[in-house]
Amino acid sequence: MPSFTLNDDLLLQILGVTEAAALAAAPLVGQADRNAVDGAAVAGMRVAFSRVPIDGTIVVGEGEKDEAPLLFTGERVGTGAGPRVDIAVDPVDGTRLAASNRPGAIAVMSVAPRGSLFDPGPVFYLDKFITSAAGEGLRIDAPTSDTLHELANRLGRPVASLRVAVQDRPRNQAYADAVCSVGAAVVSFRDGDVIPALQAAHPRGPIDLLLGTGGAPEGVLTAVAVRALGGWMQARLAPQTPAERERTHAAGISIDRVLDLADLAAADGYFFLTAVTDVTGLADLGVDDLPRAAHGASGSRTASLVVSPGGGIRRVTRE
Ligand code: FBP
Repeated sequence: MPSFTLNDDLLLQILGVTEAAALAAAPLVGQADRNAVDGAAVAGMRVAFSRVPIDGTIVVGEGEKDEAPLLFTGERVGTGAGPRVDIAVDPVDGTRLAASNRPGAIAVMSVAPRGSLFDPGPVFYLDKFITSAAGEGLRIDAPTSDTLHELANRLGRPVASLRVAVQDRPRNQAYADAVCSVGAAVVSFRDGDVIPALQAAHPRGPIDLLLGTGGAPEGVLTAVAVRALGGWMQARLAPQTPAERERTHAAGISIDRVLDLADLAAADGYFFLTAVTDVTGLADLGVDDLPRAAHGASGSRTASLVVSPGGGIRRVTRE
């Protein structure tokens, strides 16, 4: 595919979509209703999309898994003028974080040339394996302990120094056990796997590897950032319930296939993130903390970052 470049003006207009989601969600932070957070963010995004000069198709929306309102797969967004793009979106990654007023909730989206993003279809979960470029070629289906030794070797560090992000879910316990068995550290997190994924993909990030099963939408939009940052990622579809397995089978999708980065994001794209609640932990990526989206007496305030093809990370605040 030819290289894909957004000019500054369009880039900032597209960023307005995650900004709108974060601002719409802001009044609901700490109100103990995660569906309300998601619903407000979706509504904010939809209005913002209607003004952006792109011919966009939602390839990966958010909501179905959580029975929240949809930006549904196949929905056309944008004015219809401008570049033809695929969009993977999560209006709020970390709806529980936002509902309980904890840090790390973000509005997030990736934009890439039409036809380049993976559609996980009826599968809501992906098994994810994300490292920086040092992990290139390591496989998601290899024994975790072997992988950790090999990664440590490549990084020139003792295996015990590795930091491995694993989302705190029963389904991920075997991964956590394997990490502990070689003496490496599990960095456990409750919600929101997009930020740990960025930390893992960046060569100077505070996480060496992200392992485990999390949301499929988050996985696809993360792949765009991993690709831009030059990181390494593999994934596998991971249906969690008999009904999900049945839907997957009925759609003729193989759950055994290992998906490479090029399967998830077949072309370079842009990744957009706006803080809903405060975002920390990006200093090693050269990004100052992002304060939460807020409406104030003198207007609104948002803090965002954009990752561009080639790995440039730009921090944008707008008041
Ligand atoms: P949402 O807030 O969008 O629901 O996602 C939060 C999240 O923690 C994701 O970051 C992660 O990929 C997924 O949920 C894991 O799903 P579950 O919470 O169902 O285990």
